[in-house]
Amino acid sequence: MKIDGTPYRSVWVDEHDQWSVRIIDQTKLPWSVEILRLTAVRDAAHAIRSMQVRGAPLIGAVAAYGLALGLRADASTEAMERDAALLAATRPTAVNLRWALDRMLTVLRNTRQADRVRAAYAQAQQIADEDAERNEQIGLHGLPLIEQAAAARQGSGPVRVLTHCNAGWLATVDWGTAMAPIYKAHDAGIDVHVWVDETRPRNQGAALTAFELGKHGVAHTVVSDNAGGHLMQHGQVDLVIVGADRVTRTGDAANKIGTYLKALAAHDNGVPFHVALPSSTIDWTIDDGVRDIPIEERAQSEVTTMTGRAMDGSVATIRVVPTGSPAANPAFDVTPHRLITGLITERGRTQATREGLAALFPELGPTRTRPGESGAA
Ligand code: MRU
Repeated sequence: MKIDGTPYRSVWVDEHDQWSVRIIDQTKLPWSVEILRLTAVRDAAHAIRSMQVRGAPLIGAVAAYGLALGLRADASTEAMERDAALLAATRPTAVNLRWALDRMLTVLRNTRQADRVRAAYAQAQQIADEDAERNEQIGLHGLPLIEQAAAARQGSGPVRVLTHCNAGWLATVDWGTAMAPIYKAHDAGIDVHVWVDETRPRNQGAALTAFELGKHGVAHTVVSDNAGGHLMQHGQVDLVIVGADRVTRTGDAANKIGTYLKALAAHDNGVPFHVALPSSTIDWTIDDGVRDIPIEERAQSEVTTMTGRAMDGSVATIRVVPTGSPAANPAFDVTPHRLITGLITERGRTQATREGLAALFPELGPTRTRPGESGAA
């Protein structure tokens, strides 16, 4: 996607600069677009942990490139396994991280040490390219939902989509997941307007989704996290589309904290609630998302402070909670599949059920088991 006319991906390799890995520092958005140069596995681990990159598909891709950077320093099996463990420990909820590292290790364990660096870059590039392709497909498969909503509106105004967090191109390698159908609709000339939840505490909606929608020319309005239910009660939301960090094989979806409340409000108001995800976000080993998906607990300081642009133009962090009041910061929640109208994947749309997912991905679902399971999916 483009920033001020220049096409970007959220991660890329600079072959002319020692094969370093480049990312957009998302902690600096929307105030400035700063490109970071990663040259070592610890740079990649730091970028993921500190949320310079974030979003489930993107952290998978950056972890894959991080492993390639690590192999440049030491291509031994011992170092490779150690680097993979370092990267895997950076963030716990998005399964794409583990998926990308598993895929890298499957190739690299069967590659001679002398060939590992080349093979690692090639595999990481493939992961990145596939992510971009899958997300574009999600856009095409989600487009009919917006076309149908436009037809139902009968020209009485834009299709109003509500989204939570950032599941746009910045959260993936390109296109985004939840935002891909919106970009496709906008590009097809459909009048679409996005309600952007600000998404406290890290404000991925206000800082990132609003930024990329603005750069693409998509009409949007940022709302406080608590406004969605009210908007739905008053008929101002035609559909909700969110991304996901991990979807169980039964269709439960973990996404940014607050997503579950939007699903409850959508259910109560008869508003369709869709989850967009590439297959790399499906965890085929678990059934019960509330019980089995690990939820990241992040620093209290993300709740007790806010960062923004001060009136003098400087970027400042201020405290918004009384000194001495403790804070809790669960970063994700799980929306049970019964509250999800449908899943939008690169292979099409399906119900958020075991049967729906297995039918779309027959080669993936039935083959994965947890230790002690029979294998029936
Ligand atoms: O903590 P973050 O910013 O990594 O969380 C990101 C989200 O929850 C996104 O909605 C999710 O990864 C979907 S990304 C296409």
